[in-house]
Amino acid sequence: MMEGNTQKPPQKAEYEFPPFMEEYVKTDFLKQCIKGEVLYDLSCGKCHNLKIKKKTVIPDFTTEQLQGYDMRLANTEHQNNLNGTQVTTEELGYIISFLTYKKKSGIPATGDNLPH
Ligand code: HEC
Repeated sequence: MMEGNTQKPPQKAEYEFPPFMEEYVKTDFLKQCIKGEVLYDLSCGKCHNLKIKKKTVIPDFTTEQLQGYDMRLANTEHQNNLNGTQVTTEELGYIISFLTYKKKSGIPATGDNLPH
């Protein structure tokens, strides 16, 4: 775990939490999101990021895509790249928090925006 680690990663992404979310819950999710962003960059971005006008865009996954989906087994790309030794269940949780609460890019992760 990150306890005792004073080296905080720079917070690059902006987040949007539901307005009714309690402050302490937000604080907790924010920590998860910051870890999740780093992990997303390492484990997901190379396939899922889009290049739009030379800018790297992280598409918006819906809650359904993120929840109703066993990411590890859904396709061979995931089976080869997301097995438990590479991305633990805990790490996948952080990534899901990141993708859930990151500020929307406005580009949905559907159809042609998914890797082929
Ligand atoms: C080696 C490339 C690759 C990597 C790495 C990868 N993915 Fe995928 N991902 C794919 C492909 C290919 C699909 C399937 C697209 C389709 O179904 O048409 C997919 C589909 C998905 C979907 C489902 C979208 C849907 O509508 O069903 C989600 C969610 C997803 N990926 C999340 C992730 C996350 C989170 C990570 C990192 C932990 C990740 N992927 C890493 C290639 C990758």
